Amino acid sequence: MRREMFAGNWKMNTTHVEGSVLAEGIVSRLSTSGSDVVLIPPFTGIESVSNIVHSSSVALGAQTMSAQDGGAFTGEISPVMLKSLGCDYVVLGHSERRSLFGETSAQVLEKAVAAVAHGITPIVCVGETLEERESGQALAVIETQVRESMVGLTQEVVVAYEPVWAIGTGKVATPEQAQEVHASIRSVLSDLFSVVVAEDTRILYGGSVKPDNVASIMAQADVDGALIGGASLNADAFVSIIEYNKTSTE
Ligand code: 13P
Repeated sequence: MRREMFAGNWKMNTTHVEGSVLAEGIVSRLSTSGSDVVLIPPFTGIESVSNIVHSSSVALGAQTMSAQDGGAFTGEISPVMLKSLGCDYVVLGHSERRSLFGETSAQVLEKAVAAVAHGITPIVCVGETLEERESGQALAVIETQVRESMVGLTQEVVVAYEPVWAIGTGKVATPEQAQEVHASIRSVLSDLFSVVVAEDTRILYGGSVKPDNVASIMAQADVDGALIGGASLNADAFVSIIEYNKTSTE
């Protein structure tokens, strides 16, 4: 049984002060939920958000990290540093990292191995561009990303499917499109690891998830949660996404 997960990727938004206010708003609005909730502030907000969430059930994550433990790597942040601030998750291979900063699947794998070694669960992101979807290559592109970013990993990993064309655009994948890709990712995981690992691995959907579309996406058999960008910057919107069951039955 896979436990639902909702992770808010704040991207390069919020000062540490704004981040504290947002985290407080989220923690105070959240009723004990049956889902895992993860806040993912920029590096500068991790410590202040950590102080707010540490006594709650809300977990903390980072948006990327170095594969190195420490040393002469100016500008980088290591898994040791993240773990010491209470980060249990790290987003790896987000499409913005892949497209704007040239991050490759090989680097994502190296970072994922380092994260696991430090007890941090990687949230490995994959997704196709509009061009790749329109030319019928979406599933093949995603399969390659999953294999190259995850081969040989031995510990629990979360996968996030984020179609690049749906990120920050207001264009959400249809529930059927999401389900098709999620089922395909699960079968790749089964081949790469085992049926048991594939069945236990959570696959999140990301890309313009909002309070009014979350229920139809979550209704899909292979969608286990969401990675939320824009809507996670608003405490009310983020909490109504997490509590979509309540909202939709009220
Ligand atoms: P949006 O929810 O703003 O489309 O962002 C999705 C995303 O990239 C989360 O990592």
